[in-house]
Amino acid sequence: MERIKLESIDSTQSYARKELESLLLRAPVCITAEEQTKGRGQVGKSWHSPRGGGLYVTLILSEHEGAMPLSCLAQLFSLAVAEDLEELGFASQLKWPNDILLAHTKVGGVLCEVVHQPGERVALILGLGLNVNATLHQLEPVGAPATSMQIISGQEWEHEPLLEKIVKTFLTFFSQMKQLGFAPFQKRYERLLITLGQQITLPFPDKGSALCEGISDDGRLILRTPDGRIHLHHQALSY
Ligand code: BTN
Repeated sequence: MERIKLESIDSTQSYARKELESLLLRAPVCITAEEQTKGRGQVGKSWHSPRGGGLYVTLILSEHEGAMPLSCLAQLFSLAVAEDLEELGFASQLKWPNDILLAHTKVGGVLCEVVHQPGERVALILGLGLNVNATLHQLEPVGAPATSMQIISGQEWEHEPLLEKIVKTFLTFFSQMKQLGFAPFQKRYERLLITLGQQITLPFPDKGSALCEGISDDGRLILRTPDGRIHLHHQALSY
């Protein structure tokens, strides 16, 4: 996989969007940055990306539309990261659809963007932010509870081997998903799902709460409200 290493950039996602045409000709491509000045998170949030504090990665894949369920990409990518962290000795958990947690605190997140291309093709722009060696002081500006692998383990982690491991795991998962869908990953995701069996507040205007029963074989969150069952859909952002 081609690798583009950037020192400092506004956002590896935005860079990928700007350079998409040429990147797609070379896909798959992996873009990383040492720091981001305008890192982007889910739903218009920012992703604090201090220099050397973490992995700031965007993968660009060019795929045939309909080759896979696009709404499971964030779940698949975050599961790959969480299982890799487990292999390194961490007790990782997942918050649906795209947050990776250590000690009940967010350590990483995934941002999946889909750009439809002519000829029934899609560009997948898959971003990962993972706090690796960031200190508590460096994470202060986040303004929400945040942690890093170093804070939890008390040791520093080398970026490159970690990146290689995560990319390899994700690509393996990705090719499996293209053949079999998300079903083989459903139970693995549920095993790490932090809200499993808990009451959670619904993200609808009338709020209310519901019991989290797991996720479906297409990656949706299954909730039980007093009046029935809801499958919460996570749409990959589409442009
Ligand atoms: C989230 O949890 O809200 C998702 C965070 C995704 C952050 C990564 S860092 C690399 C890539 N470039 C960005 O601007 N965002 C993603």
